[in-house]
Amino acid sequence: MTLFPRSILVVGSGGREHALVRALLPSPVQPRVICAPGNAGIAGDVACFPVAADDVAGLVALAQREKIEFVVVGPEVPLSLGLADKLIAAGIPVYGPKADGARLESSKIFTKEILLKYRIPTAAAAFFEEAAPAIAYLRARPAPIVVKADGLAAGKGVVVAQTHAEAESAVRTLLALPTQSKIENPKSKILLEDCLFGEETSILVVVSGRDYVILSTSQDHKRIGDGDTGPNTGGMGAYSPSEVVTPALLARIENEIVRPSVNAIADEGIDYRGTLFIGIMLTPTGPSVIEYNARFGDPETQAVLPRIGNDVLALLWAAARGELAGVKLVEKNIYAICVVIAAKGYPDAYAKGDVITLPPASALPPFVSILHAGTARNSAGQLVMSGGRVLGVTAIAPTLRAAADQAYALCDQIQCASKYFRRDIGARQLNRK
Ligand code: AMP
Ligand code: GLY
Repeated sequence: MTLFPRSILVVGSGGREHALVRALLPSPVQPRVICAPGNAGIAGDVACFPVAADDVAGLVALAQREKIEFVVVGPEVPLSLGLADKLIAAGIPVYGPKADGARLESSKIFTKEILLKYRIPTAAAAFFEEAAPAIAYLRARPAPIVVKADGLAAGKGVVVAQTHAEAESAVRTLLALPTQSKIENPKSKILLEDCLFGEETSILVVVSGRDYVILSTSQDHKRIGDGDTGPNTGGMGAYSPSEVVTPALLARIENEIVRPSVNAIADEGIDYRGTLFIGIMLTPTGPSVIEYNARFGDPETQAVLPRIGNDVLALLWAAARGELAGVKLVEKNIYAICVVIAAKGYPDAYAKGDVITLPPASALPPFVSILHAGTARNSAGQLVMSGGRVLGVTAIAPTLRAAADQAYALCDQIQCASKYFRRDIGARQLNRK
């Protein structure tokens, strides 16, 4: 039995995984960390192996070949494909839920049924397989109304429709969307949900059965444009802590949402060991669950991990081993921010291959870092853009203002013909004061 893992595989290729690698490396056990498939920046820190994040058999084989003692899974797709189940069957401990737990993210209907069954605050909703009854239902509800596809849809499965006409067209589009659950079950479903109003906050919870540790609060910026305008993205930046979540509000969120959610999942017979990411709307009448994700948030993780004083490896390992009881979060008294640099055009079509010039790592002060997401090397060995979200520029400082100023100074030094980033990450909190 491994008392403490010394060889770790991180699965994924985004900024979240780069942040996880950077958080695991300083563990006192001085682990060997590898990543699959990783990206050009992660490859600067640890060895990367070209096994895709959705190649479950390939990842298990890699873990066995590299004598991996602990796997930390970043994205949801391998979890929903049963990567954790397969690793556990092979005797390799894993941080990240098995397929039954990953359904909390891959099926919005499964999640809604749990939320309603256990009376956890969430928007009223109804489920449909056919357009006609869905449209009849929505016409009787006030607009705006939210239309959601059931399965994983890479961020394209949710439409917050401002009018009934928009909602009706979303019903037709989403019923036809080729989501993963539709491949499993050709009769695709949609969910119609009342619109919640308020500020969103992300609560990341390290869960192990009925035990849990709530990580520092954070807030993502989902829209592409400054002032929260334009289409939704995977997330354009985040900061932590999110002070709109006061200690009293966090206690309410724990009592009304986190503890009931963790217990509900256990009561459903799911032995959940991994991150439960709860997307919460802070409505005028109280916090309400928008969604669960079965993984760390991206870019929330890039802002949350730098504020954790615990040995992150020990924390995730305790959760995977069922030994989380009594573990307390150690929170650093600093602010952290992550500004995402994306390719111009994202979240729609964008160019790949633009060369990126970064300031030399040795020139970076210790309170800033550049995490890589969609980066690769071209045949000449140059760093190039290879994805929509390209880099995450992170900074820590005694104030959010200072953290933002440091991150933005670094963003301006990064050269890349088609870089795009929001100028107002953190502004909501900065302007509140
Ligand atoms: P989801 O994939 O469920 O997180 O939805 C994506 C985004 O759509 C969320 O982050 C919210 O901004 C928005 N959204 C989802 N459900 C609702 C709702 N019931 N009311 C208002 N906005 C929502
Ligand atoms: N930042 C939102 C997410 O990771 O889903």
